[in-house]
Amino acid sequence: MVRLQDKVAIITGGARGMGEAHVRKFVAEGAKVVFTDLNEEGGRALEQQLGENAKFIKQDVTKAADWETVIAETETLFGPVNILVNNAGISMSKPFLEMTEEEYRKIVDINQVSVFLGMKAIVPSMQKTGNGSIINISSINGLVGGAVGYTDTKFAVRGITKAAALQLAHLGIRVNSVHPGVIETPMVTEGDAVEVIKEFAKHIPLRRMAQSEEVSNLVLFLASDESSYSTGSEFVIDGGLTAM
Ligand SMILES: NC(=O)c1ccc[n+]([C@@H]2O[C@H](COP(=O)([O-])OP(=O)(O)OC[C@H]3O[C@@H](n4cnc5c(N)ncnc54)[C@H](O)[C@@H]3O)[C@@H](O)[C@H]2O)c1
Repeated sequence: MVRLQDKVAIITGGARGMGEAHVRKFVAEGAKVVFTDLNEEGGRALEQQLGENAKFIKQDVTKAADWETVIAETETLFGPVNILVNNAGISMSKPFLEMTEEEYRKIVDINQVSVFLGMKAIVPSMQKTGNGSIINISSINGLVGGAVGYTDTKFAVRGITKAAALQLAHLGIRVNSVHPGVIETPMVTEGDAVEVIKEFAKHIPLRRMAQSEEVSNLVLFLASDESSYSTGSEFVIDGGLTAM
């Protein structure tokens, strides 16, 4: 028995990393998935591997017009949307005294404003289905401090999740946030701090980074009807890091 039978999902930042793992998991669990990304090459390559229940659309999550296009195309292809995973994001580890206003506004736009735009745009489609699950990918840096820019946007994602959950509950739309710790994705392995992070991972209680698929299992639970009584909540997946 698959867990997302006949559900229609949109996953942002799906061309690689955790987003890619969520796309693969959702398709395997019976969902029809539109996944989006700025990375068209990676998105098209993944689309070719996954068959007719996965469709890639190029999208910049910071653009309201792109959201309208993605949702309209999803409805045409698969019908109204049941699930939105706001996963696209960037990291920035520069000391904030060296950060320009332009750099700061960029991370706010991609990590934070995109979540507002996506949730606002998706509600009419979810109303057509009578239900919905929105999963906003924050971070443990939405719970405890880290780099300026990244931390503030991830706290904001946690906050807007709770505020939106309260306003959307009467429509049958649930909104939750996911807070991953250190996950072995290109965001980490291609970054300048990879060696530092690998060393740091040895001190996580579970003594390692997580694989993306481990996060997909949690996202799948929140997307499915199994989490029917969860809304406005934060779900931490960090190998025990924030328990220290
Ligand atoms: N990797 C970690 O350790 C970690 C930990 C906590 C939270 N997160 C969060 O998880 C999410 C996924 O991270 P990941 O590690 O898989 O990163 P990743 O860099 O591997 O993938 C992110 C994807 O988002 C896309 N993207 C970036 N800007 C975009 C835009 N404007 N429009 C559309 N797509 C855009 C990128 O092209 C990329 O494919 C992010 O929100 C990240 O902040 C990651």
